Amino acid sequence: MIEKSLFQYNKRILRVSQLAAISVFDHIGKKNEEAADKSAVESMRKELNKIDFRGTVVIGEGERDKAPMLYIGEKVGSGKGMKVDIALDPLEGTKITANNQKNALTVLAIGNNKSFLHAPDVYMEKIAVGPGLPDNFIDLDFPLEKILKNLSKERKKKLSDIVVCVLDRPRHEKIFKILDKNNCKKFLIPDGDILGAISTALKKKKIDMYIGIGGAPEGVLAAAALKCLGGQMQCRLVFSEKSQEIRAKKMGISDLNKKYSINDLVKKDVIFAASGVTDGSLLKGIKKKVNRFTTNSFIISTKTKKIDFIESDFKIP
Ligand code: FBP
Repeated sequence: MIEKSLFQYNKRILRVSQLAAISVFDHIGKKNEEAADKSAVESMRKELNKIDFRGTVVIGEGERDKAPMLYIGEKVGSGKGMKVDIALDPLEGTKITANNQKNALTVLAIGNNKSFLHAPDVYMEKIAVGPGLPDNFIDLDFPLEKILKNLSKERKKKLSDIVVCVLDRPRHEKIFKILDKNNCKKFLIPDGDILGAISTALKKKKIDMYIGIGGAPEGVLAAAALKCLGGQMQCRLVFSEKSQEIRAKKMGISDLNKKYSINDLVKKDVIFAASGVTDGSLLKGIKKKVNRFTTNSFIISTKTKKIDFIESDFKIP
């Protein structure tokens, strides 16, 4: 059942992402990742605190001791209104922003209480496809070659026309070899795998599958958007140190090897919003004209089940 009251926050959530993107404008291309991220975090926190809800950050900047703001567990909002959970990545693509490259975004999602998997800030194996495929189409433990062949049949495309998005990292060498062996097209991204995963559900982007290891918070955020668009995703946390396993257990994760389906990652209704910081394939970045900023954003929810693009103007005070 759709819990309608969550959707009253649509415009407010969009505005949080828009103002965060504007706040980063002066840091684009300045080679200072930390300053860019700090700006987005401060802006998001300030704007979230103006909204009449009782929000808890469940996917955020990290643990309280490491993140001074928007840390996991931080309460945001005015303290009035309904209880919501918040997942955010104030600046997805800090390095991209600092280097003035493509596809940096501000991202957040809100859901009803206990909507999101409380994922620790570790890596995550991810595989994602768009809508229109049989249930349980993907599995991290199926041979990748088999999934690619099934995808080629289902999408009625030659295997050599199947496009797979992967973060360009040496850790993905095994995946690259399988893609090359099957003559598939690689779409390599330097950063920003939230957009990489969401792209599988966008006709305009022509990406058939996303696969690889990236951040777990980004995995949950991508799942929020992909769930609204009818895509499929499966993820598994990756632990490189014992301390990470201990932290995950403290956060309530008992099975460290669990494969999470999209409905385990995002359990209830959600709203997802993103705004462009630098120009990208899906969104334009922030534009400044004398006394105005123009933002380009998209918003998706489990209510509308589609992607809405919004361009807005903000007067510079
Ligand atoms: P930031 O939000 O820190 O800029 O993350 C960018 C990003 O590329 C994510 O999209 C991705 O999940 C992660 O970093 C990959 O991590 P790494 O750069 O360590 O491979």
